[in-house]
Amino acid sequence: MIDADDGQRLAPYLRRHATREQFREFVLNRSVYRLKEADPHSFGIPRLEGAAKAALVEIESDEYGGGRPERMHSELFRTTMRWLGLDDSHGRYVAEVPAVTLAVSNVMSLFAIHRRWTAALIGHLAALEMTSCSAHAAHSSSTTSSPSTS
Ligand SMILES: [Fe+2]
Repeated sequence: MIDADDGQRLAPYLRRHATREQFREFVLNRSVYRLKEADPHSFGIPRLEGAAKAALVEIESDEYGGGRPERMHSELFRTTMRWLGLDDSHGRYVAEVPAVTLAVSNVMSLFAIHRRWTAALIGHLAALEMTSCSAHAAHSSSTTSSPSTS
């Protein structure tokens, strides 16, 4: 699906061409999910076994900063929000974002709370992680003084 999408890639556009206001709008929309990042996928842990469970825990550990609160991806995102002058309170912008933004976030919650959607939940996380490697690499190699886009 990702390879078949011939639209302009968002991350390169944001990095090279977006205005500060466009980037701010992007971050505001992404905050609906990013401030609860990894939480929905945690519901998959007790539903898996063996190598799949171990792999999910490894990914989730990174999402939660490997035991370092300042490295939690949601906290890194909060740094970006504050840098842009946005309120980093969870759910602050829910009433302001379009339905499509809410749908993206809500589908993760749907997958998380219903056991029958466990495969979709894990598939969603895999797709999310596979398409955000460069952004996550930026997390790992940068300080918290610069904004992140993941
Ligand atoms: Fe993340």
